[in-house]
Amino acid sequence: MATAAIEANGLVKRYGDVTAVAGIDLTVAAHSIYALVGPNGAGKTTTINMLTTLTPPTAGHVRVAGYDVQRQARQVRQCIGVTFQDIVLDGDLTGRQVLDIHGKLYRMSRQERKRRITELVQLVQLEDVLDRCVKTYSGGMKRRLELARGLLTNPQVLFLDEPTQGLDPQNRVGIWNYIRHLNREHGLTLLLTTHYMEEAEMLAHTVGIIDRGLLVVEGKPADLVATLGANVIRIHGQGDRRHFIQQLGNLPFVDRVQVDEQDSVVQVYVDNGNRRLVEIVQAASGNGFRVEEIAVAQPGLSDVFLRYTGHALRD
Ligand SMILES: Nc1ncnc2c1ncn2[C@@H]1O[C@H](COP(=O)(O)OP(=O)(O)OP(=O)(O)O)[C@@H](O)[C@H]1O
Ligand SMILES: [Mg+2]
Repeated sequence: MATAAIEANGLVKRYGDVTAVAGIDLTVAAHSIYALVGPNGAGKTTTINMLTTLTPPTAGHVRVAGYDVQRQARQVRQCIGVTFQDIVLDGDLTGRQVLDIHGKLYRMSRQERKRRITELVQLVQLEDVLDRCVKTYSGGMKRRLELARGLLTNPQVLFLDEPTQGLDPQNRVGIWNYIRHLNREHGLTLLLTTHYMEEAEMLAHTVGIIDRGLLVVEGKPADLVATLGANVIRIHGQGDRRHFIQQLGNLPFVDRVQVDEQDSVVQVYVDNGNRRLVEIVQAASGNGFRVEEIAVAQPGLSDVFLRYTGHALRD
């Protein structure tokens, strides 16, 4: 039965004149992975901070694991684990000390701490460096240690704010594997934020696209992509784009035309890309537009982002 692990209604956060979160409704099913995707400043961290009791909302209500984050903050904290966007580790402590202190903070017994640390260190593959000072760790090791710390108290719901920020592709894939494992084998509910579309596409059962403090669209990655049409033709070129775009819009097989102003790429969503190239190049000629580059691709989540926000997501 899929009950909600996280339920937010009308969530708002204002800092003076700045509206960081402008009214978000969010439901995360128990035992699922939800990815909140959006550009810098979209409101991802602010949302996580409100869901994890760290920042009081200006307006709205949140329940996590059935508890109200404002009235039952203590119970919420007992059910959740969090890892932060910026690494927060004392470099002079060893990995083991970091974990042990965290366990003490949560009043875990010495025996329980020992057992849990052994288990988790194995999971995140830090056995060999556990007794070294954290300042000697690589970025990937630090992220893994933070993941272990977030998991120490055996949470039902784990919040990961940009879990792979700054990691190389190999370390990133490693973190993805732990996340999948925790969800599949332990039924953990995960809410993560990312500005890597690929990450959301690889991991999440549900993706929410957040832009300027609002959730602009939400759904299964495949469903979101399926709304875009079979193929996308990307066109670079020179000349009068306005007429060209008008002309494209009149072609019967064109679902939609979108322009990314920053990259000056024209994207044409069509039913069958390979069969339509010639006609599209023809629409350009005689309209004062010269095609310099044209490519057919399968649409992905980045295209969903562009569609719903009108601009491209950049790392
Ligand atoms: N304590 C604060 N005081 C004032 N403004 C804030 C504060 N925290 C966040 N903001 C503003 O709220 C907006 C959302 O910030 P937030 O950190 O939630 O974005 P984000 O999506 O996590 O971005 P990033 O991808 O860079 O981590 C930004 O405009 C930010 O400047
Ligand atoms: Mg952030």
